Amino acid sequence: MAHDPHGHHQRHAHPHHDHTDIDWEEMGPLLETQAELFTPLYEHAMAWLAKRQTEPGLVVDVGSGPGVVACLLADTFPGARIVAVDGSAPLLARARARAERLGVADRFGTLTGELPDVLDELDYPADLLWAGRSLHHLGDQRAALAAFAGRLTHGGTLALQEGGLPTRFLPRDLGFGRPGLQARLDALEADWFAAMRADLPGSVTETEDWPALLTAAGLRPTGTRTFLLDLPAPTTDRARAYVAAHLTRLREGVGEALDADDRATLDRLLDPDDKASVHHRADVFVLAAQTVYTAVRTR
Ligand SMILES: C[S@@+](CC[C@H](N)C(=O)[O-])C[C@H]1O[C@@H](n2cnc3c(N)ncnc32)[C@H](O)[C@@H]1O
Repeated sequence: MAHDPHGHHQRHAHPHHDHTDIDWEEMGPLLETQAELFTPLYEHAMAWLAKRQTEPGLVVDVGSGPGVVACLLADTFPGARIVAVDGSAPLLARARARAERLGVADRFGTLTGELPDVLDELDYPADLLWAGRSLHHLGDQRAALAAFAGRLTHGGTLALQEGGLPTRFLPRDLGFGRPGLQARLDALEADWFAAMRADLPGSVTETEDWPALLTAAGLRPTGTRTFLLDLPAPTTDRARAYVAAHLTRLREGVGEALDADDRATLDRLLDPDDKASVHHRADVFVLAAQTVYTAVRTR
């Protein structure tokens, strides 16, 4: 039982797995800076989407967080009404403020509540439903996808952003420490992710074959594409700040599980007074690959 990678049994033995609870309000600034930095990737994804779902009337961003992508959806679909849906009221307040700043508030609304049930409160079905890295935070992903599908118009599209590749920031050999630190952080993050999912209310283990799950939800898969963000070194201060924030979060979340050498390496990378840290070194980059799956409601 201890081998169960999804941690169900650990969960019953230790019900207080608070380390996997995410404080979404606290995550707001990081989610916002990440989505801003990733805008070129989203723009490519949106251009691809716009060819698949032309002139939607209602676009719903499911698990929108602070609304950066919801506002990009507003840009992409100037004739659409956008509704950003999320469980976190403070993040939706950020989304509304952003829509205001960008001049799209007149066709931008928010809906606060638990997914997927809160979608029942939409006034009418959506022509495009975007779920960006939100489905994996719901305990029963299969049931959630069926609920999402049920809120689409006939002919409407569900776009699911899940998976891709772990983002890379640094060369394999940093010039100090054991080469391959990011690969070892990826492995710890994967374990953390499994524990996070196992600790979700109503958690169900699922084979994450997204096209198969979209089909099971009654939709017809129409495409899968992976979009790149490629910000090579020497990179911008904005990218550097994002890398530092991301690695700080990893240090807090999984740092104690690293061996002492790797932990010392990560601490050096995060020390603003160290010239070899990500705050100063010339070789920091951001290379990300994120996958979007689309499916259409045909019945
Ligand atoms: C990883 S963030 C993604 C935010 C945004 N889509 C993006 O790509 O930047 C996941 C979002 O899902 C929301 N969320 C997680 N679980 C939820 C739930 N059970 N009900 C409603 N929203 C939830 C969080 O508040 C958070 O804003």
